[in-house]
Amino acid sequence: MRIGSVELSSPFIIAPMAGMTDSAFRRLVKRHGGCGLVVTEMVSSEGLVRGIDRTLEYAEYTEEERPVSIQIFGGDPEKMAAAAQIVEGMGADIVDVNMGCPVPKIAKHNAGCSLMREPQHAATVISAMAKAVRIPVTVKMRAGWNDRSRNAPDLARMAQDAGASAVTIHGRTAEQSYSGSADWDLVASVAESLSIPVLGSGDCVEPEQIIDRMQYVGGVLVGRGVLRNPWILAQAMDIANGRAPREVTMSERGQFLLDYIDLLLNERGNETDGFRHFLSPEPWALSPSERVARGRERWVINKVRALCTWYSKGFDCGSHLRIRVNSTTTIQELRDIIEEFFFSVPSP
Ligand SMILES: Cc1cc2nc3c(=O)[nH]c(=O)nc-3n(C[C@H](O)[C@H](O)[C@H](O)COP(=O)(O)O)c2cc1C
Repeated sequence: MRIGSVELSSPFIIAPMAGMTDSAFRRLVKRHGGCGLVVTEMVSSEGLVRGIDRTLEYAEYTEEERPVSIQIFGGDPEKMAAAAQIVEGMGADIVDVNMGCPVPKIAKHNAGCSLMREPQHAATVISAMAKAVRIPVTVKMRAGWNDRSRNAPDLARMAQDAGASAVTIHGRTAEQSYSGSADWDLVASVAESLSIPVLGSGDCVEPEQIIDRMQYVGGVLVGRGVLRNPWILAQAMDIANGRAPREVTMSERGQFLLDYIDLLLNERGNETDGFRHFLSPEPWALSPSERVARGRERWVINKVRALCTWYSKGFDCGSHLRIRVNSTTTIQELRDIIEEFFFSVPSP
């Protein structure tokens, strides 16, 4: 499939997930196959325009992840256009607008899903961005703000008219957050009515579900399903190619976590003191280099803990893994726990 000028080798996509789909995770998923596009965690347009280091870090990616879409959020057309230019300058293939985030911290600033409550303004944002950059501008939205306003069909058309090259719909309202189930009938009706590609998102936790949803849309973004099973896109590709979905052994699952730790440990190699905020209280007795090492260790452990909340679902004794990972304080201990859990159990 194609989004504007960008050709995707597969219609199966890693959905943007704040706090989860960092570059290391995206690289590992991509290496396992089946993934046609990665989308970064949402990045603040305000932070990009002001050049805030932590914001820029969220937008970082590596060449092996291409094609890459950087997702930005914000409500000011000029700032969103300026942020889109920064994203283009960073070499991203696509810039995506977040119109789906229901979190009050974002929504109250007229950004995220709040934009769905002001369709005209949302269209102005998209149009300003589309005029400012040459790379495709895409939009990710929900079904609507609430059940009384399920306006994705109208807004998606307005996005198309404003210059968007593709639209993704997560078939829940902001008010639903993650409760209930995604409305794929609504997603399908939007796909039927637009000429640009429409992608769908929501509730694909088995590769067969991804294949089933492809009858309605040009592509599927998989979120929580990838956190539980990073091979799900490769398995969907197996099915699409007429093969049985590959089986993943326990040791492969363990190796994924060990590789994730290694990639994270090598992240932000030039940073001198940037991990300080992961330390509490401030261990002033440590030398600067010890502080960095300790802060980095803490950061990696937090990231692996966050992933394990999802990754451990569906395993026998998954809760034991979560509890043990949540209580560890060193990388060595973390590695030992993973090895013990995944490598000493025979594969099913
Ligand atoms: C932890 C988490 C973080 C998310 N962060 C973002 C985000 O930054 N931008 C966005 O557009 N959607 C975000 N989403 C929504 C997902 O991209 C996806 O549309 C939604 O989870 C439904 O798909 P799923 O059922 O496959 O998870 C997030 C979802 C989760 C679970």
